[in-house]
Amino acid sequence: MSYNSFGHLFRVMTWGESHGPAIGCVIDGCPSRIALKATDIQSDLDKRRPGTSRFTTQRQEPDQVRILSGVFQDDTMKQQLTTGTPISLIIDNVDQRSKDYSEIRETYRPGHADFTYDKKYGIRDYRGGGRSSARETAMRVAAGAVAKKIVAGLNVRGALVQIGDMKIDRSRWDWKEVDQNPFFCPDPVMAENWENYLDRIRKSGSSIGAIIEIIAENVPVGIGAPVYAKLDQELASALMSINAVKGVEIGRGLDAASLSGEENADQIRMGADGEPIFLSNNAGGILGGISSGQSIVANLALKPTSSIRLPGRSLDIEGNEVEVVTTGRHDPCVGIRAVPIAEAMLAIVLLDHVLRDRGQNALPRKAGTRPM
Ligand SMILES: Cc1cc2nc3c(=O)[nH]c(=O)nc-3n(C[C@H](O)[C@H](O)[C@H](O)COP(=O)(O)O)c2cc1C
Repeated sequence: MSYNSFGHLFRVMTWGESHGPAIGCVIDGCPSRIALKATDIQSDLDKRRPGTSRFTTQRQEPDQVRILSGVFQDDTMKQQLTTGTPISLIIDNVDQRSKDYSEIRETYRPGHADFTYDKKYGIRDYRGGGRSSARETAMRVAAGAVAKKIVAGLNVRGALVQIGDMKIDRSRWDWKEVDQNPFFCPDPVMAENWENYLDRIRKSGSSIGAIIEIIAENVPVGIGAPVYAKLDQELASALMSINAVKGVEIGRGLDAASLSGEENADQIRMGADGEPIFLSNNAGGILGGISSGQSIVANLALKPTSSIRLPGRSLDIEGNEVEVVTTGRHDPCVGIRAVPIAEAMLAIVLLDHVLRDRGQNALPRKAGTRPM
């Protein structure tokens, strides 16, 4: 029984704790002959890295990734390629401050995983949250960077669209803005408003939730499955597995319940180039569990960080009622750094389905031929 792996043909197993010596993952099932070097992965990791602005945790982790296996290059080859064998990736933890967490050794932070981990396992690495820390998600981002290299033309990107009750103005959406502010915000005006808002929240010792939108463009039509491996089902599961995610919507999501049939159905016409054109995308690019070729659009809601400096009522490990104040270094809004994590999970799910579709529908190659 394993709870640390996900994916079917592109299978990722992550390992490591927040304050252990390192974190890592093993990717099993990556196709061979994909050009891959550590710098391809590093740029995505740099987006998730902590300590890059005052709006994220001040833990300073360079998150330098090393590829330990699964790639090869010799002097006859222009570039390093994947070999089809397990790719092992590792990142050293360098900025642990375990003493910051000595108080949560004896007490359960309200809203965090301390209580449930203790009840389930009877032993808990409380340092930095151990395995429940979002430190683990660095490896999802690393595996996602590998996945993004494989499906030709696929473009996966994400943005923060809401912090607390402050929503972006979609008419100002500009993808270029996403890399220009510390929030991955596509609306430059709202990014400025968020600065003041989040500063107030941070200084008060509290935290706040957020909503992320992720989009995949140039998705091949026909990936997914109609019943138990629906693309929307597996995407929701992958996104829900990200720490602090409490809601996932695909396309219009919960909103679809208030639409009429004719408003909701994405009507189809034939384009001049002989390709169908959908007149809307309420389905978020998935019909009957199978990709329609439209962009896949999902939104995910993240709860506010539970480790806060404001006192909360809880229990200690002996069952005594206590008041918990969490010090240490925490993200005031975990939604911000979750943007590249959500992108990575979307890329992994899509690649896994592309490979599974090929497994089911591609005819075996002729005996004796080399793969194309
Ligand atoms: C990028 C990211 C950073 C996070 N940082 C913190 C943090 O600094 N402090 C904290 O209490 N929770 C943080 N979390 C959330 C916890 O990991 C999460 O709430 C906890 O594991 C309990 O799991 P659950 O919220 O999914 O039930 C973070 C989550 C993400 C995605």
